[in-house]
Amino acid sequence: MEPHEDIAKVLFSEEDIRTRVAEMGKELASLYETKQPLVLGVLSGSFVFMADLVRSIQPVPTGLHVDFARARSYAGKSTLSSGEVDVIMGKLPVRGRHVILVEDIVDTGNTTKHLIKGLMESGAETCALVALLNKKCRRVTDVGVSLEGFECPDEFVVGYGLDFNEEYRSLPYVGVLKPQCYQ
Ligand code: PRP
Ligand code: MN
Ligand code: MG
Repeated sequence: MEPHEDIAKVLFSEEDIRTRVAEMGKELASLYETKQPLVLGVLSGSFVFMADLVRSIQPVPTGLHVDFARARSYAGKSTLSSGEVDVIMGKLPVRGRHVILVEDIVDTGNTTKHLIKGLMESGAETCALVALLNKKCRRVTDVGVSLEGFECPDEFVVGYGLDFNEEYRSLPYVGVLKPQCYQ
């Protein structure tokens, strides 16, 4: 099938993502074999990656739990991170838990920095950051990604959970949005 008409180029195809997510799941299964991880997705962007990733964590560590937090850093139609982050934590207590924070993308690092700080202050035992895409070149804080799917070039990407102004989240691949769609 042809990509969506607003997509200039597909960066990571469905198959690229499937292959990489399966590898990441195996790695997490072995790292957390005895640790009862709390896998915490960051809404909204991580919802597709979360669904695939948690099903790839095989064999399933005993006591693996799933929860979601909510964070928003981009202001409406902007393609730039605003620097301010609104956060709503998940419903499960994190005290004493080995948290695996799951993001679709780490860009400036502001969102994950806020979340990790909040999780550690709430008594998480450990907190690892897993991101499908790592846009290292745009970092303004020193957030390190424990496990990344792909390094992301400095382009505005959408799909597989990532949006522009809430559109394109349902695309099954990650693609570069045509500049005329946000200019
Ligand atoms: C996006 C993305 C990350 C964050 C990364 O979320 O899903 O959560 O921005 O940017 P940062 O590293 O510069 O903070 P967004 O705020 O757009 O909300 P959304 O997940 O609902 O799309
Ligand atoms: Mn997000
Ligand atoms: Mg967004």
